[in-house]
Amino acid sequence: MKILITGAKGMLAKAVINKLKDENQLICTDSQELDITDKNMVMEYVEKEKPEYIINCAAYTAVDKAEEEEELAEKVNSEGPKNLAIAAGKYNCILVHISTDYVFNGDLDINKTYKENDKTMPVTVYGKTKKQGEDNIIQNSSKYYILRTAWLYGEGNNFVRTMLKLSKEKEELNVVNDQHGSPTYTEDLASIIKQIIDKKIPYGIYHTTNIGYTTWFDFTKKIFELSNISCKVNPVTSEEFVRPAKRPKNSKLSKDKILEEGITIPDWEDGLKRYLIAENVIS
Ligand SMILES: NC(=O)c1ccc[n+]([C@@H]2O[C@H](COP(=O)([O-])OP(=O)(O)OC[C@H]3O[C@@H](n4cnc5c(N)ncnc54)[C@H](OP(=O)(O)O)[C@@H]3O)[C@@H](O)[C@H]2O)c1
Repeated sequence: MKILITGAKGMLAKAVINKLKDENQLICTDSQELDITDKNMVMEYVEKEKPEYIINCAAYTAVDKAEEEEELAEKVNSEGPKNLAIAAGKYNCILVHISTDYVFNGDLDINKTYKENDKTMPVTVYGKTKKQGEDNIIQNSSKYYILRTAWLYGEGNNFVRTMLKLSKEKEELNVVNDQHGSPTYTEDLASIIKQIIDKKIPYGIYHTTNIGYTTWFDFTKKIFELSNISCKVNPVTSEEFVRPAKRPKNSKLSKDKILEEGITIPDWEDGLKRYLIAENVIS
């Protein structure tokens, strides 16, 4: 299968490339080789390569900085997917696009989970631009998978690595305990993408994170417990840890729809253990 991957230097893209490279012909492009905001470039590239799939791993992902860089975030997260969707429609490719829990406002009762067709209501610039990206894909193509994920970690800088680093510098850490979600290993999201392609499940929007839910506080405690680190972790509220972009308190995405398609997804603790082994933190 010929597959075009955008944003190939990003954290998720690295895992996707690794997962798909043996059985497919991959065309891996970074932002220099294929700038998704450049419509002509996208159209020419897709016409020339004629891939069967486009996997869009490119995005503007600096959630806080986006509050000040709305125009750039909008170009990459909204216009970019639109260009890819138009090209995919014209040259008959299937578009796999990655979206986010930030399309919701996170105010849902914490005992409930967000389903794919629940009302979106982004409250941050990042979330709004990602939502526009989803809408642009739906309006401009018919063969698409929009995969909403959350709390990603993998090769590169990420929350787990930051916590491991901070544990060496500080005796105790304050971590937010009122935001709930599913930590998701890029390796496991890449596996979900591979299964989607192999099984050719129906097109549409799917929630794709690891299974199970936790808070950043409990996630941190689990990272330290598995890594045999004794750093003290103190629970704090979002109000005590204010960031430029408001974080959703409820980021719990229901996986029922994707699981009903027979896709297998590991639990988040299982993903974390494999990540710590891959990073040589534990053996
Ligand atoms: N990380 C998370 O926790 C998280 C959570 C939910 C959803 N997501 C979504 O998951 C996807 C992958 O995220 P990630 O963490 O792997 O992101 P990432 O590591 O920040 O990678 C994004 C990549 O996009 C590239 N890019 C930026 N502008 C581009 C353009 N105009 N044309 C082509 N490429 C461009 C960047 O390249 P340059 O560096 O060269 O600009 C970068 O390599 C994104 O859609 C993101 O919104 C992430």
